[in-house]
Amino acid sequence: MKIAIASDHGGFRLKEEVAGLLSEFGIEYKDFGTFSEAAVDYPDLALIVAEAVCAGDFDRGILCCGTGIGVSIAANKVPGIRAALCHDTFSARAAREHNCANILTLGQRVIGAGLARDIVTTWLEAEFQGGRHASRIEKIKAIEQKYNRCSR
Ligand code: RB5
Repeated sequence: MKIAIASDHGGFRLKEEVAGLLSEFGIEYKDFGTFSEAAVDYPDLALIVAEAVCAGDFDRGILCCGTGIGVSIAANKVPGIRAALCHDTFSARAAREHNCANILTLGQRVIGAGLARDIVTTWLEAEFQGGRHASRIEKIKAIEQKYNRCSR
């Protein structure tokens, strides 16, 4: 599995924590920045990761900002992206099993590093269950197509 990660300044330290966790797990990843706590705009970083996942260069992405909300909203504008903001492990599991979320978003100002590590671990290990959930994903794709957006 190849993972793309990025954050704005508000999620920088949490993104570093996520990078460390992926290294511990031996999971291949690319860090698209930001690389300091100097202010940057979260849509710019979210777009890079969302396009990389949409293009198929990476299997999944993880985005961090202060709340996880901004990067989630921005990433979900990219066709084929299903970004899920998860601040508990139940949601992280469901985001994969039910929603086939291909990007996980996290808020550094909302949760601590320990919980974030559990959420990332849960999300990485869970798999899409298909079945009745697959037709719902197809309906999401149909919404994209309705608005003339290509869909993966
Ligand atoms: C940056 O101050 C902050 O607005 C950003 O990290 C994020 O929380 C936006 O949703």
